[in-house]
Amino acid sequence: MSLYHFQTVKHLVHGAGALDQLGDKLALLDVPLRRVVLVTQNAMHGLGVTERVKAQLAARDIDVAVIDNVEIEPTLENIEQVFREQVSPHQPDALLAIGGGSVLDAAKLFAVMLTNEQSLRSMLGIDQVARAGLPTVLVPTTAGTGSEVTPNAIVTLPDEELKVGVVSRHLLPALVLLDPLLTLSLPKAITAATGMDAFTHSLESFISNKANPVSDTFALESMRLIAGSIVEAYQQPDSVRARSDMLLGSTYGGVALTAAGTAAVHALAYPLGGKFHVTHGVANAMLLPHVMAFNLDSCAPRLKRAAMVCGLAREEDSNEAAAGKLIEQITAWTATLEIPQDLAAFGVREEHLPEMAVAASKVTRLMVNNPKPLSLDDIQALYRRLLP
Ligand SMILES: NC(=O)c1ccc[n+]([C@@H]2O[C@H](COP(=O)([O-])OP(=O)(O)OC[C@H]3O[C@@H](n4cnc5c(N)ncnc54)[C@H](O)[C@@H]3O)[C@@H](O)[C@H]2O)c1
Ligand SMILES: [Fe+2]
Repeated sequence: MSLYHFQTVKHLVHGAGALDQLGDKLALLDVPLRRVVLVTQNAMHGLGVTERVKAQLAARDIDVAVIDNVEIEPTLENIEQVFREQVSPHQPDALLAIGGGSVLDAAKLFAVMLTNEQSLRSMLGIDQVARAGLPTVLVPTTAGTGSEVTPNAIVTLPDEELKVGVVSRHLLPALVLLDPLLTLSLPKAITAATGMDAFTHSLESFISNKANPVSDTFALESMRLIAGSIVEAYQQPDSVRARSDMLLGSTYGGVALTAAGTAAVHALAYPLGGKFHVTHGVANAMLLPHVMAFNLDSCAPRLKRAAMVCGLAREEDSNEAAAGKLIEQITAWTATLEIPQDLAAFGVREEHLPEMAVAASKVTRLMVNNPKPLSLDDIQALYRRLLP
């Protein structure tokens, strides 16, 4: 039996209204808090979320600097600039982040940039961050990236037209609040794309070469929760039941990917984000059924288990038939959720494919997890499925 290693966050509070616990739960950080930085997105101001948090902090005499200009899917330069001009001068004792993966990732990076002399660029890759960061409190408002429970943060390098990751145990937060009420306001297109991203995390973790009993447990339950709620969350945005299951499913997906890693879908998505600005969830959702059809003959028993947990297949079905039903369902979801299907609409043309394939193949951190190796021709053929 192979050895596996599991790590996760220290504290996780889940339930409708969890945000109201923020002030009380800050004691769990075990550091005196005089000054904090809150990294958030504009959408949170209009919803009154920023004011609710400020009131809880003011009641405890904590001085807060609100930062709302981290870009969507930030570049390395944007993170460095916001850090230099706003985060560092405030000299915080801890960082809070409330928003989608873009601001959660940013806060995780700010926390280690505050305690390390090294440049952000030198942190790229696996285990390159020297010292632990300041404590972070992460509150996701998409469901989602699972970033609140992963040791990863993703930045875009515009010069190289690539998205790259910082992976370090020092990025794991001290406290996570999961409040599904914060996700009721998600616009439909973001519900769709981020929900499919979450499902992709769990399915890729489940078929990963590094899958293990811990990742399997979280991946299967995540897929069950998401399969049972993604369409309802999209069609009835106010459904607290669906939003709650989506948020928990997304966090479980983050736990699964931390334990087992994502694979070729995410690797192929990176050049789409880096060069063509296809958002992370949309890129994954577009690629998912095609990459799974490619993988089918190397992991059909696992795809069958995934199909069964999603309520799509029965024990007596053959592995191939059950796997086929799962892929059909994913394709049906992309249609119901109105996920774009045409890469040409993002400016991708046949002549871009060789370069994109090389870029995807270089994401070896994820490619090594894929159950079936991909040649450059295989990768090009997968992208080509999304061209007219
Ligand atoms: N660290 C990880 O493990 C990990 C995993 C997957 C993806 N990511 C990264 O996360 C980023 C994507 O994050 P995302 O998909 O969560 O979206 P996002 O943070 O980029 O936000 C997308 C949009 O949704 C809006 N929004 C968020 N929550 C809202 C709400 N409740 N109501 C209304 N509007 C809301 C934001 O303001 C923004 O305009 C990418 O950079 C991706 O690479 C990180
Ligand atoms: Fe993802």
